[in-house]
Amino acid sequence: MLQREKFASRLGFLLISAGCAIGLGNVWRFPYITGQYGGAAFVLIYLFFLLVLGLPIMVMEFSVGRASQKSAALSFRVLEPKGTRWHLYGYGAMLGNYMLMMFYTTVGGWMIIYFLKTATGEFVGKTPDEVASVFGNMLARPGLMAFWMVAVVLIGFGICSLGLQNGVERITKAMMGCLFLVMIVLVLRAVTLPGAGDGLRFYLLPDFGKMAEQGISTVIFAAMGQAFFTLSLGIGAMAIFGSYIGKERSLTGESISITLLDTGVALMAGLIIFPACSAFGMDPGQGPGLVFVTLPNIFNVMTGGRIFGALFFIFMTFAALSTVIAVFENIVSFGMDLWGWSRRKTVLINTVLIIVLSIPCVLGFNLWSSIQPLGAGTNIQDLEDFIVSSNLLPLGSLVYLAFCTSRYGWGWKNFLKEADTGNGIRFPAWTRIYVSYILPVIVLYIFVQGYNEKFHLLEQLTAIFA
Ligand code: PHE
Repeated sequence: MLQREKFASRLGFLLISAGCAIGLGNVWRFPYITGQYGGAAFVLIYLFFLLVLGLPIMVMEFSVGRASQKSAALSFRVLEPKGTRWHLYGYGAMLGNYMLMMFYTTVGGWMIIYFLKTATGEFVGKTPDEVASVFGNMLARPGLMAFWMVAVVLIGFGICSLGLQNGVERITKAMMGCLFLVMIVLVLRAVTLPGAGDGLRFYLLPDFGKMAEQGISTVIFAAMGQAFFTLSLGIGAMAIFGSYIGKERSLTGESISITLLDTGVALMAGLIIFPACSAFGMDPGQGPGLVFVTLPNIFNVMTGGRIFGALFFIFMTFAALSTVIAVFENIVSFGMDLWGWSRRKTVLINTVLIIVLSIPCVLGFNLWSSIQPLGAGTNIQDLEDFIVSSNLLPLGSLVYLAFCTSRYGWGWKNFLKEADTGNGIRFPAWTRIYVSYILPVIVLYIFVQGYNEKFHLLEQLTAIFA
């Protein structure tokens, strides 16, 4: 039996887990959702969920990974009591990782395209309408988007093929370091822009009235989804890194560090985007186009905007790539764990597979735009994002939770022992009742309410039976 690969250092583990967590969720999804759902009030709920829902589940994922020494494809099989079927969720976790990448690689490609456009000065001198049309034109060009999607896949798997320490660890560490630096520069620039104050107020001073306009359950559902998404929870994306570390450190302390890094980056992304929006009179609530439509305009009228713009999109690209590399590593480990394939072989097969699987998302914006799975104006990406973020992540998190707390699963004692092995903060054992009974009810409740509000299920049912 081959010895399982390990990270070279604790810093490597922390930065790669943070790199997996820090991604488009922080720099693209968080700002636009915050903009749509009313600013600071949303941010508060989101922070609350990170702490009470996200953090404990991250500890559980790491524990399952470290105890089983396997990826999510096999970890349940190793730890479950004989005769139980927890291992079936291995397929759910695999599906989640693949489906996430089916749209993530495309958005990653957009970041590179925007980096190139900004760096080469394509936006200079364009009116806001013209800048907006650049985004639309890009979406209309399947060839261009497919090219950069493929580039993202090749870079990601290229790095994975170099191995865990030489590829994934070394390169992610360097990228994360650059990312933190670039962010700090950009935050300093944005908050000192004249007119930044309104944006800061929108972002930092809660206005619950504005939130109520959106529908409280919808906002809470979105905040929960975002909390799971940003921490990469529910599909074993974090668990894998637990399987690459030793027993020197307890897992609660490590999870806190990673959550802090992730939250810090999300909050900083907001500190870049909202002050800049108000300084240049842009609407922060315009949805997924926020960073693509708003920011180039901002960089256009800002001194040194081309440099700051290029820096910004490089930072988005790094954030996206660090997540792609982390999730690809997980996908590679599925193949290696399940079938004993070599790293090379697994990388080759998955490169082709992920490219093919990413195509529907690209075509959904143009050739296949008549497919509107979630209602008028929606596209394939919306569907994939919805399946992953609103379903697999929260429900998968519940599977990890139940597995770690129920005596029909791995069980509380085993979980606690694994989480607390090593130096550092212990998992607060007094939270057992909360974690085992209250936390799952909250997640389920928000889930059902959110579905209800999104699809007006109750009204439809009553209409059918009336
Ligand atoms: N956390 C990642 C981001 O913020 C997304 C992600 C979700 C990655 C789930 C893995 C698993 O972009």
